[in-house]
Amino acid sequence: MMQRLRAQTCAKLSRSHSVKCEAAGQADTVRIAFRGREVEVPRGSKLRTALLRAGLTPHSEGAMYINCRGIGSCGTCAVEIEGEVQPAVWTTAEQLRLNFPPHSAPGNQRLRLACQVACSGDLLRVTKYDKFWGEGSAALPDLPSAHPVAAVAEAPEAPAGAGGAATSRTAAGGVTPLGELEFILDRGARQAERRQQ
Ligand code: FES
Repeated sequence: MMQRLRAQTCAKLSRSHSVKCEAAGQADTVRIAFRGREVEVPRGSKLRTALLRAGLTPHSEGAMYINCRGIGSCGTCAVEIEGEVQPAVWTTAEQLRLNFPPHSAPGNQRLRLACQVACSGDLLRVTKYDKFWGEGSAALPDLPSAHPVAAVAEAPEAPAGAGGAATSRTAAGGVTPLGELEFILDRGARQAERRQQ
């Protein structure tokens, strides 16, 4: 039931973007390449939300449980992003958090907070570095083939389109220990959820 709700929410979010995107000649989805996987997410969705709903996580294993859920204060969703996101430069929250230990120059310069940026462009290549806050210098390896992202691709209840199959992976992937509360601070995700109700 929850899987279906999440899937419908993503589809709805995607539809609301599609009119604007068609006018702009853009696809209403953005591809994300992350740790050897590629997923399609609704254009304009927050990167943290998009990854979690796709069964992937911008957090390290421990930080998956202990993080600020998108307020921009914990710094554990730090990732390197190749491709276009909005805003293009650090937000105030990023300036504060990415300049605060354990993040520090010069390593912090390549990082963005996944909870503070919206997916844009066509393809985002997202790299997560090691250590609890992602402040390390070694990129995390590709996910094993047994990772739930692949396993749930055939989920029967998942509708076609952006975020559909990916959403079902969330529950199976166990990357959202708080369920929908994971997205409580993502206004866009909450609005989509309300429209769905
Ligand atoms: S989730 Fe805490 S800073 Fe992004």
